[in-house]
Amino acid sequence: MNKEKSNINSMDKIISLCKRRGFIFPSAEIYGGLRSTYDYGPLGVELKNNIKKAWWRRMVQERQDVVGLDSAILTPEIVWQASGHLENFTDPLVECKKCHQRFRQDELEQRDSSFAKKRIQNDSLACPECGGELTQPQSFNLLMKTQLGVVEGKQDDAYLRGETCQGIYLNYLNIKDSMRLKMPFGIAQIGKAFRNEITPGNFIFRMREFEQMEMQYFVNPQEAKKYYKTWKDWTMDWYQEFIQQPKNLRWRQHEKDELAHYAKEAWDVEYKTPFDGWKEFAGVHNRGDWDLSRHSQFSKQDLSYMDLETKEKFIPWVQEVSMGVDRAMLMFLVDAYTEVETRSGDEDSKHETEVVLKLHPELAPIKIAILPLSKKEPLQKLAQQIFDDLKQNYKLDYDETTSIGKRYRRQDEIGTPYCLTIDFESLDDQAVTIRDRDTMQQERIKIAELKNYFQDKF
Ligand code: GAP
Repeated sequence: MNKEKSNINSMDKIISLCKRRGFIFPSAEIYGGLRSTYDYGPLGVELKNNIKKAWWRRMVQERQDVVGLDSAILTPEIVWQASGHLENFTDPLVECKKCHQRFRQDELEQRDSSFAKKRIQNDSLACPECGGELTQPQSFNLLMKTQLGVVEGKQDDAYLRGETCQGIYLNYLNIKDSMRLKMPFGIAQIGKAFRNEITPGNFIFRMREFEQMEMQYFVNPQEAKKYYKTWKDWTMDWYQEFIQQPKNLRWRQHEKDELAHYAKEAWDVEYKTPFDGWKEFAGVHNRGDWDLSRHSQFSKQDLSYMDLETKEKFIPWVQEVSMGVDRAMLMFLVDAYTEVETRSGDEDSKHETEVVLKLHPELAPIKIAILPLSKKEPLQKLAQQIFDDLKQNYKLDYDETTSIGKRYRRQDEIGTPYCLTIDFESLDDQAVTIRDRDTMQQERIKIAELKNYFQDKF
């Protein structure tokens, strides 16, 4: 029996695996990098796309009451006045007068409770890095501003969206009318959001450019409570479906004084991370009529809803599901990362510890690796035929280099659920060996049966 070692206790191993195997690179690295931005490499983009597809399928494709949207990232200033973000989307910032490092005051308070006490007493505050004096807190707005237009001095201010859901409210009327939707209904969107975070960090956990998967469900205010629960359950079920260790997931309700300006009620999905304990990965918010009322007021368009059956007219309440794509990816990587004592391969490829990324098959970047035992023509030809037969349905890898043990290990490390080996017997019996990543069980399957076999597996 292979002994499974304790799960990861350090982020360094995951960060190093992500770089070494082409999942995630620091962006603009050849120029020294741009802090807090990352690029997704060949395997990273597959994994990220699979996460988004898994969300879209369950959220939009399989439902009759949710439709999709892809709205603009650039937005006029008035949108963020109406949404309340220009006024309220701020973090308290303090700066060290000596080393000029900037910190979020609320984070310092969490780290050191005496810090909060000192602030209340208005003592001079100490920088946690160099001990220098800190400034008094200032409100720092997180929205990112840019300029539109080509004539210097005559450019218009615009904003990169700070949350994707604002595009949903802006399109609420167009979508409701063009799709002839009746309440309750939802609009979902996946896309980039931008925030000038004071303290980005923890790899892809907190970045200035990131992706969100958001759905806004428009309901009669009387039914808000019921649908809030529906979407809270949906959100937890979605994460549970893809992780190995459910004990690392939990709900946390926001205290009254931490609620965002738009929220009447908020619960976060938290995951127990190796870098900083329980952290937020998603939020489910009851936004009441805040957004549509404010956009009605600022745009002077009537965004109320008339229920033709009950003759009731109301501003719909919004029940929001808001999930981070990058954070979901981080959660799945951390959750899947497993170190085991040597378990696979021939003598020359044995290592004391092997890494197996136990990603859910639906998320795995490569679904099947095609591994001919020899580079010689008859085997190569057969392997290529099998590759061509399966490539329409699955992202495959083709690897004919080094020993089979090393090739298995390379696939385990990137989470490939199945390895398909073609040997000289395959030429006679028209069958191949399929190895399961998690159980290491091997099965001999007829080549003619492969499509059905994998259809059952994925
Ligand atoms: N529309 C509501 C909203 O944006 P939020 O709690 O500010 O709510 C929702 O953000 C989710 O977006 C978070 O739970 C997280 O997954 C992701 N997110 C927020 N800021 C992020 C950042 N700086 N880097 C990566 N992901 C972030």
